[in-house]
Amino acid sequence: MTSNSAGEEVKAEEVKAEEAKSGGERPGVDWDAESATFDDEPDHGLRDPAVREAWAARLRGWLPRGPADVLDLGCGTGSLSLLASEQRHRVTGVDSSPRMVDLARAKLAGRDAAFLVGDAAAPPVGEQRFDVVLVRHVLWTLPDPGRVLRHWCGLLRPGGRLVLIEGVWGTVSPVGISAGRLTGLLAPLAEDVRVEPLSDDPLLWGREVEDERYAVVAVP
Ligand SMILES: C[S@@+](CC[C@H](N)C(=O)[O-])C[C@H]1O[C@@H](n2cnc3c(N)ncnc32)[C@H](O)[C@@H]1O
Repeated sequence: MTSNSAGEEVKAEEVKAEEAKSGGERPGVDWDAESATFDDEPDHGLRDPAVREAWAARLRGWLPRGPADVLDLGCGTGSLSLLASEQRHRVTGVDSSPRMVDLARAKLAGRDAAFLVGDAAAPPVGEQRFDVVLVRHVLWTLPDPGRVLRHWCGLLRPGGRLVLIEGVWGTVSPVGISAGRLTGLLAPLAEDVRVEPLSDDPLLWGREVEDERYAVVAVP
């Protein structure tokens, strides 16, 4: 037996099942090892056309209309990078896992996209600036998210925006960052902060979900 964050005793198998259902969004993961099966989750690989179109439609709402420079941090296998590229944006992806970066490069081969191995908290992009910093399911794992958000704001061109997709996964032993905490961290950094709940759209996840999932679009 182990205890969840509310102090209730739960079986270790239940915790494992919860973690598996969360799609692997947990710290201390060997992402190189996870890379081969990462896209098996509906919202990771976007293989189901209905799931794919649900994410494409959301991205169209979050990204600028015209072609823009998008920095996808913790890009994984490049699934969101590919959607952004299909919407005519130029993409730079950064991930600390070389295997994830290999898969992203293969997924976007022949497109106007570049992928770098590096730390999402301090991306190796030199003086380059972007219209969008796009981050899904990564911020909450980084130490000192407030400092990281400040750094990301500095990577934006004037008028640029952060598009952050985060959540609190699992109910037995929840992990993640709540929309309330994230908007609190953004308050001193961004003039305009819009939260879009995502838990009520099973098409995004390939199933019904009960935990907190959301996107934030923040303009400094
Ligand atoms: C849950 S996956 C999300 C992947 C992708 N953003 C998506 O939504 O499909 C987390 C990704 O973040 C990467 N990652 C974790 N910590 C990182 C860090 N400090 N810097 C760069 N990438 C990181 C992992 O290698 C993994 O590819």
